[in-house]
Amino acid sequence: MSRKPIIAGNWKMNKTAAEAREFIEAVKNQVPANELVDSVVGAPNLFVEGMTKGTKDSELKVAAQNCYFEDEGAYTGETSPKALGALGVDYVIIGHSERRDYFHETDEEVNKKAHAIFRNDMLPIICCGESLETYEAGKAEEFVGGQIKAALKDLSADQVASLVLAYEPIWAIGTGKSATKDDAQKMCAHIRSVVAGEFSQDVADKVRIQYGGSVKPENIADYMACPDVDGALVGGASLKVDSFLALLEAVK
Ligand code: G3H
Repeated sequence: MSRKPIIAGNWKMNKTAAEAREFIEAVKNQVPANELVDSVVGAPNLFVEGMTKGTKDSELKVAAQNCYFEDEGAYTGETSPKALGALGVDYVIIGHSERRDYFHETDEEVNKKAHAIFRNDMLPIICCGESLETYEAGKAEEFVGGQIKAALKDLSADQVASLVLAYEPIWAIGTGKSATKDDAQKMCAHIRSVVAGEFSQDVADKVRIQYGGSVKPENIADYMACPDVDGALVGGASLKVDSFLALLEAVK
């Protein structure tokens, strides 16, 4: 089964709107063709509008980094998925461990957000991953499997086949301690088997699964060589033009 690779930069809370514009101008005409790889930048929600305008004639796609699960209403400070969809945002990253840890996002909320994202014609990138403690206790597969089942609850088979899952062991994020390619492959294969169990083998064969955690141009080829790894969710190495382009070049 051949799945199109997807490389998504997650800028987290970095860059100003002017810096984002500069980045987009520098990369937009150098992004590989969309038939080869989905190239995505996850910008702070504050300036996704500028990003969608700036990437209009480019192969680069735009992700928001979070949204609320209601389309509109009295939710001060939240980001409406309806508004993101109307701006032409392609993907929304949800369930990132930083949001789970610092902002108490629950599995149930991740699931509601996934439904809201589909309702507004975007695709979720759903993050999962275990802590070092869970990893060392040998409970990573059980934990991540639970996150996946909860996140995908009541989605249709077609929806699940089209979304993106991102396995990011928390101990590998921003630490420079990337998971070995065997660890990444083992967990991504496990996630695919959970999807097969909840939906079907056909859906599991179609869903794209990224690895994330200290991915950089020097190690991305190792992960992409794993049969169940379809791309990467990249933090630090997505911030600089040269390394972002090098990541895309390495997978096209
Ligand atoms: O969303 C991206 C991940 O948190 C990975 O971040 O590449 O800086 O380790 P990192």
